[in-house]
Amino acid sequence: MMTDAPATLFVIVGGAGDLTGRKLLPAIARIVEDKNWHETFHVLAVGRAVKDDETYREWARKSLMLAGLSAETVRAWCDTSIYYASNAEESGGWAAVAGKVAAIEAKHGLPGNRAIYLAVPPRAFPTVIEAVGQVGLNKSPGFTRLVIEKPFGKSLESAGRLNEVVHRWFEESQVYRIDHYLGKETVQNLLVFRFANALFESAWNRSLVRSVEITVGEHLGLETRAGYYDQAGAFRDMIQNHVSQVLTLVAMEPPVKLDADSIRDEKVKVLRSILPIAVEDVVYGQYAGGVIEDETVPGYLEEPGVAEGSTTETSVSLRLHIDNWRWQGVPFYLRTGKRFPERLTQIVVRFREPPVALFEVAGSEVNSDAIVITLQPNEGFELHFDVKAPAEDMRLETVPLDFRYAEEFRALPDAYETLLEDIVIGDQTLFVRSDEVEAAWGLYQPILDNPPMPEPYAAGTWGPPSSQKLPHATGDAWWEDSGD
Ligand code: BG6
Repeated sequence: MMTDAPATLFVIVGGAGDLTGRKLLPAIARIVEDKNWHETFHVLAVGRAVKDDETYREWARKSLMLAGLSAETVRAWCDTSIYYASNAEESGGWAAVAGKVAAIEAKHGLPGNRAIYLAVPPRAFPTVIEAVGQVGLNKSPGFTRLVIEKPFGKSLESAGRLNEVVHRWFEESQVYRIDHYLGKETVQNLLVFRFANALFESAWNRSLVRSVEITVGEHLGLETRAGYYDQAGAFRDMIQNHVSQVLTLVAMEPPVKLDADSIRDEKVKVLRSILPIAVEDVVYGQYAGGVIEDETVPGYLEEPGVAEGSTTETSVSLRLHIDNWRWQGVPFYLRTGKRFPERLTQIVVRFREPPVALFEVAGSEVNSDAIVITLQPNEGFELHFDVKAPAEDMRLETVPLDFRYAEEFRALPDAYETLLEDIVIGDQTLFVRSDEVEAAWGLYQPILDNPPMPEPYAAGTWGPPSSQKLPHATGDAWWEDSGD
């Protein structure tokens, strides 16, 4: 079947790595299967773990079967569309990759559209980009797109340097910086929820909103990622990117148009409007041993590969203020952490209380209405508001009006499916622009330069006690503590 998607060769650097096996190949194969895009996706995996095409295809087949793809797609797609190039790091290695690209394109009659996908550890980004540029893989008869996984730099300065290397060889319109949270259906829905529903958007401002809370919690611990995580920490791993992306979509102004740059312009404006974050408004935590889902789990310092006495933070909670007309005076609480009680990404928008306290609410101090948007899991939306408890004196109860994706729609696609499809069709909306990534680093750099000492929290709790208290200073409470 013909498709509108142009046939594209994905050159995946790090092609035998964990991300490729677990996410990228399954996502591509699922698009191929769902949309019947057999002619669209071709892959040249570049790595050093495997010797030849056939050994790689064997590995790819296993990854795809594990991911639940049908045997038919696996066989058909692996056998015809996947290739491997090893030893790119050796002298002449990248020239050989370029030669193989040309050979694959000739064999399949491809128009020369390429996506160079960097699925390698970040320290390798500059070297690979230089090598790609030097052998001329940044230019082609069709389009060439550079796809870069997170983290993009580890400070304002290093992100700036990486942007320089990128722009030496690629125009910004060719660059697709991945933040996989933007590929999540529920994250994209934030724009629709806000700008297609005048009811909510008219309440979405300082006159009616009292506070906004964004939580990205995980029950998982470090897993086997000490080498990366012990250097990065929760701030660089989550706040600078995923949490900030959600924040900008919650807080941005309506874009002039629904195109990539109009949306990204508005997101950057949010980051630039945030006031410097006060040191006392940031709490770092580090998980100690504890119990999650009835299982006893070790503390961060006992995890394999973590440096002795490491002060890396595994949770961050902070308060910030957006100094613009819409949000002036409204506190935003952001929070992320590993070994929290559950996996939960949630936005809570609390509304102001009525100007006159006509009704008493038994057992609850905070009685503002709230919109709770759950981005994962159990994706959905609740509007919490007060009703009179029947057959009682004027006692109010807060009840939710509830919508769940699973009840209305089929299963949500994986974020990578959305992102890979957008790379092929050339839509940059869900990718992070260079000024955006630098604005986020710029905002947080003072904290990264002068970080607080992490306080311990038991695995299975929502962070250290100081984090729990953070909203109290302004009379607020985290959603799970508020009794609503
Ligand atoms: C990654 C972080 O970017 O996002 C991980 O490096 C984290 O530490 C993961 O676990 C969370 O993603 P998701 O999609 O499972 O919420």
